[in-house]
Amino acid sequence: MSPAVDPPPDLAALREEYARGGLDESDLAVDPIAMFRRWLTEAATAGLHEPNAMVVSTADDSGRPSSRMVLLKGLDERGFVFFTNTGSRKGEELAGNSRCALLFPWHPLERQVRVDGTAALLPRVDVAAYFASRPRGSQLGAWASPQSRVVSGRAELDGAFAEAEARFPAEVPVPDEWGGYVVVPDAVEFWQGRPGRMHDRLVYRRGSEPDAWEVVRLAP
Ligand SMILES: Cc1cc2nc3c(=O)[nH]c(=O)nc-3n(C[C@H](O)[C@H](O)[C@H](O)COP(=O)(O)O)c2cc1C
Repeated sequence: MSPAVDPPPDLAALREEYARGGLDESDLAVDPIAMFRRWLTEAATAGLHEPNAMVVSTADDSGRPSSRMVLLKGLDERGFVFFTNTGSRKGEELAGNSRCALLFPWHPLERQVRVDGTAALLPRVDVAAYFASRPRGSQLGAWASPQSRVVSGRAELDGAFAEAEARFPAEVPVPDEWGGYVVVPDAVEFWQGRPGRMHDRLVYRRGSEPDAWEVVRLAP
């Protein structure tokens, strides 16, 4: 007899009314990074699980998109920083087409932030500084995993990890393939759910002057 399985949810009937708050033009900070910092702090203070988890979308040369979750590991006046293997699918796609999009899905706050931008490789010195701060296991994993390439099985990965452990008994250097990107934003949208699907959507768009931003409101 097969074990009892809960029936799937009735998707058409699953809906939430969003009523936690609103977002007015007068609430906005002068630039999107300052505004993002404010919302990220609120997401962390509210106890959201991994508030720095974001969906990164890239596209290959022919325009075929792909998305995956990545952790935001830095935020400065340039933009949004994450680390990964540059030989991975996302790395290959960014090498051919540096345009990308980020999405922060902060459901419990009825918020999302969308970023459209261009990814640039971080200087090796920044990569080395962050790599040095990672736990040893993650450093070894970076050596053991040819990220996004096909492997023969779990045993190959476990073997590669053990090999890295033996090869680097003390300090673990940064693998050549491991790197980081800063996503420089062209547009950042702050979305706050409202009743009746009349949500607030305020978008900072880069103006013609350097570091000048204009704000527009989009219909929900
Ligand atoms: C919550 C979460 C955080 C993740 N953070 C990272 C990250 O910071 N860097 C990374 O390379 N992969 C991260 N991953 C794994 C990626 O989602 C993905 O599997 C991997 O990077 C390979 O993606 P690609 O084949 O599209 O390049 C994370 C996954 C999850 C679910």
